[in-house]
Amino acid sequence: MGIMVKISFSISKGDTRTVDVEEGATAMEAAVRNAVPGIDAECGGACACGTCHVHVEEAWRTKVGGRTPMEEEMLAFGYDVRPNSRLACQIRMTGELDGLAVSIPEREV
Ligand code: FES
Repeated sequence: MGIMVKISFSISKGDTRTVDVEEGATAMEAAVRNAVPGIDAECGGACACGTCHVHVEEAWRTKVGGRTPMEEEMLAFGYDVRPNSRLACQIRMTGELDGLAVSIPEREV
């Protein structure tokens, strides 16, 4: 097993799940493996469904980086898309991202 890093999912006000995931997995995989609600990941991580949409906490935006052109296309149809919106299946967890905090748009929960 590789190095584990932490990621927190804020599900609704006052409900946050912090889970451990192996480096190299995506934020979406971290959510699905731990049954975090609101990340349906219908397309299995192919950047083709938009159901893994999250808002990246401001403090983490630079480290996480921007959206890919494919994500832009998916998010064009998304609900509550903000400048800090990302698709969790496109965020690969590294040591740099240990402690990452994201929140799940309300309607997805
Ligand atoms: S899991 Fe479908 S876009 Fe991320």
